[in-house]
Amino acid sequence: MEFSFSDTELLLFERITEAAERMQSEVYLIGGFVRDKIIGRPTSDADIVCVGNAIELAKEVAAYYYPRPAISVFKNFGTAHFKIEETGGRWLDVEFVGARRESYRASSRKPEVAPGTLEDDQNRRDFTINALAISLNKNDFGRLIDPFNGLRDLEEKRIQTPLEPLTTFSDDPLRMMRAIRFASQLGFRIDPQTFAAIIQDADRIRIISQERITEEINKIIASPKPSVGFDLLYKSGLLQIIFPKMADLAGAEYIDGLGHKDNFYHTLQVLDNVALKTNDLWVRWAAILHDIGKPATKKFEQGHGWTFHGHEVVGSRMVPRIFDQMKLPMNEKMRFVRKMVELHLRPISLTKESITDSAIRRLLFDAGEDMDLLMMLCEADITSRNKQKVKRYLENFELVRKRLTEVEEKDRIRNWQPPVTGEMIMEIFGIGPSKIVGDLKNLIREAILEGEIENSYEAAYRYMLDKAAAMDLKPVGQFQAGESPVK
Ligand code: CTP
Repeated sequence: MEFSFSDTELLLFERITEAAERMQSEVYLIGGFVRDKIIGRPTSDADIVCVGNAIELAKEVAAYYYPRPAISVFKNFGTAHFKIEETGGRWLDVEFVGARRESYRASSRKPEVAPGTLEDDQNRRDFTINALAISLNKNDFGRLIDPFNGLRDLEEKRIQTPLEPLTTFSDDPLRMMRAIRFASQLGFRIDPQTFAAIIQDADRIRIISQERITEEINKIIASPKPSVGFDLLYKSGLLQIIFPKMADLAGAEYIDGLGHKDNFYHTLQVLDNVALKTNDLWVRWAAILHDIGKPATKKFEQGHGWTFHGHEVVGSRMVPRIFDQMKLPMNEKMRFVRKMVELHLRPISLTKESITDSAIRRLLFDAGEDMDLLMMLCEADITSRNKQKVKRYLENFELVRKRLTEVEEKDRIRNWQPPVTGEMIMEIFGIGPSKIVGDLKNLIREAILEGEIENSYEAAYRYMLDKAAAMDLKPVGQFQAGESPVK
């Protein structure tokens, strides 16, 4: 079998061959690197398995390079790692691992020291497609060693475990999620027996740390068609354990023959729609969470049908909690997702009659620099099968877009701060921080957004003086004569 290795990779492999020969050790490329080379997927990590002392081998190989790369050694695990530069400024991570007999336990802190043969090492791997090895030994350099027919599974796009699935999963239950993640990333199917074992063993995912679970969820979200992964998570029962709020979206209830749409599958469609437009993880998270408040707000109103009033507000309040539980960053990314969830109905709720300048200005003010991403999410949210409805929404949307551009050109509200600040108000009236400062600031902002006064410093200043006079508040010192802090 021919592989297409880069010059940097070939040079590295030659050096490994030479060093291993000197040390009289066997050495192989293994795992994801081999898999990705065969299917032509870009790779940046090369795992090298050594039947012998992997740390020594890593040191020998690193010694060929000038400047010599820094080696990180994990003595307890018998592994060592360094990076070399590829052409184009990319880096290749090279990891040396001793062949092992024991189970693979990435989550365990216990050292794993039982050395084994290549065959032992291949037996303990997660999937047949990840157990392929390429020899780097002088006598059979480049030979593919494929004891579980991983090559056939790559060709037939199948994910299955090398051993009995329950045995492979019991070594590391995260592998159940990895199976689903690879299916979503690579567009593969999971073998029915392997999938049946995931259903049977799903509950064991509870012993896995949240960080590892979230990493897999994020990889599913980042895959080309994330619905594939989420559908499998749901069907296996894993989603109900790792993300019950999302699983709660599933199903449709009927009363008097009236049903509502299945919000889980709707959400997946919105997620796929967004995924076609952007790789941004957080916009994709916003798609996942946009309707998360629906189960909690669902009501059946006689003569009206199903309603989800206020689900955007309830949903946006759920976002910090979900981020916290998932150990996702509690920073501006979280605030962005919360804002998207809260605003996701605003553009579409603007009907022809309500597309006033002030409604548009308010939307621009609330969405700020994320206006375009909000429009992207809203457009992705149109999943109705009713062609007339879709047509009407899309037309309305075009109108909103047009009006957004017009009003933005005229008023420049996006990323806007009202022209008179709290500090100015305190200086002009000689007062300290107090409710009245906030009241005046709000009045000015509202007047501009409503279009009562124009968006300029002079107009805002005059307006503020009027409102302050009505509150018996007078400018002090030099401001009495009409001077203002801004010249
Ligand atoms: N592996 C395993 N069981 C795990 C994790 C990893 O058997 N729970 C093995 C697999 O052989 C895998 C290799 O270790 O191919 C490297 O793991 P990792 O880097 O996590 O995965 P990759 O397959 O390289 O894929 P990716 O880099 O996309 O995560």
